[in-house]
Formats: sequence, C-alpha cells, structure tokens
Amino acid sequence: MNIRREEILEELGLTPLWHTRTTDTAVTSSHQASATDARRAQVLRMDWTQLKTSVADCTACPLHRARTRTVFGVGDENADWLWVGEGPGAEEDASGEPFVGQAGKLLDNMLAAISLQRGRNVYITNIVKCRPPGNRNPEPAEAQQCEPYLARQIELIQPKLIIALGKVAAQNLLHTDATVASLRGKLHEYSGIPFIVTYHPAYLLRTLPDKAKAWEDLCFARSTMQALL
Ligand code: URA
Ligand code: SF4
Repeated sequence: MNIRREEILEELGLTPLWHTRTTDTAVTSSHQASATDARRAQVLRMDWTQLKTSVADCTACPLHRARTRTVFGVGDENADWLWVGEGPGAEEDASGEPFVGQAGKLLDNMLAAISLQRGRNVYITNIVKCRPPGNRNPEPAEAQQCEPYLARQIELIQPKLIIALGKVAAQNLLHTDATVASLRGKLHEYSGIPFIVTYHPAYLLRTLPDKAKAWEDLCFARSTMQALL
C-alpha cells in the first residue's frame, strides 16, 4: 500500500491493524535475523581468548538464566579428535568441565577403548554451553544461538575427525532429523571435516544392548583416523 493511501485510511480510522502488525513482525524478525548474522560473523573472527570470554559472559539464549557456569570445552586446542556432546548436566554445570559425571566416566572409557585420553590429542565440548534445566534437550533456538561458538571452536581446532555423541549433536551439526541408528556406521562431513555419529554415553548407560554398536562405531572411528593420518 502506498503512503498516501495509508495516511488517508488512517485519518478515516480505517487502518487495517492486521496489515500494520504483519509489517511490524516482518521488520522485527528481519532485524533479529540480521542481528544474529552480525553476532555470528563477529564470533567467527574471535581468537581463543575472546571466544572463551564471550561464552563466559553470554546471555544470548534463555539457558543463561539457570546456569551456574558456562561449560566451554576442554582439551588439546590442536587436537585431531573432536568429540561433541549435547549440553552440560548438573556436575558439568557445577564444575565447568564437560563430561565429568556418570556419562563422562563412560566417555573416558570409550576413549580408552581406542587408546585415547581426555586432553591428549582430544578436545571435548557440547552443542550448548549452558545446562538445560532438568537435563532436557536444548531447544532448536537455543542450539542455534550457541552454534557460532562451536563453529569457531571447530575452525580454531581444525580437527581431522569429529565424533557426534548422540542425536542432539548429530542432528544439529548435520542439519538433519535422521536418527542416530540411521546415521551411525557412515562417514559424513561437517564443513569438509570427516564426521562420525555414535550413541551418547548417557543413552548407552540406559540401553546396554547398544554398547556393542558403540564399540563398532569406535573401531570405525579409529580406522577412519588411521586412514586420515
Ligand atoms: N552430557 C553431555 O552431552 N555433555 C556433557 O558435558 C555431560 C553430559
Ligand atoms: Fe549463550 Fe550458548 Fe549459554 Fe545460550 S547456551 S546463553 S547461546 S553460551
């Protein structure tokens, strides 16, 4: 509608509210989109120190409200191996380190099974850096707000192989709704980096029969890395 016609209708008290409101919403969401894009571009230029500070101070999504502390990630910043989980649980929220609870003990055993050790050529982090209350899954919007941090971690680490631990990591990084069962056993890629999916250790603690499949995935990951080196 042109301005003149809108002014006339307004004077007559006939401005269609739905029209105004629709326009406002469109403007707001495009502003939000460009603010998100600008923030992402800024994060993607950060060095490690800036990135760590930004995460520690982040209030970009509602998960900041209930957190005790952010959980940035841990390990060798030049690691060949990058392991990505879902988000901090209670112990991680208390300590600031990923995978230190029950699931973390199993992850350490999974690493040991293929002769790896936390911090030695291994980096571990999560899709979201703040604990989702009650250990619920992160909402897609929360994962999206947090995504630039992980994207930058990956750019800085330049891992040779990424292992997604469970559905949340796999689906967010591969932009898919596919199940872990259908994604495992295949070589995927994230930004040109070879990418393998396996079960989340917390899931394996509840679903013992799938531990054998996780072992297959670990062997697949080990042989893939051997081929890449
Ligand atoms: N589960 C995760 O996905 N990440 C952690 O850091 C701990 C438990
Ligand atoms: Fe920021 Fe990520 Fe924490 Fe949300 S989860 S507040 S985006 S650091």
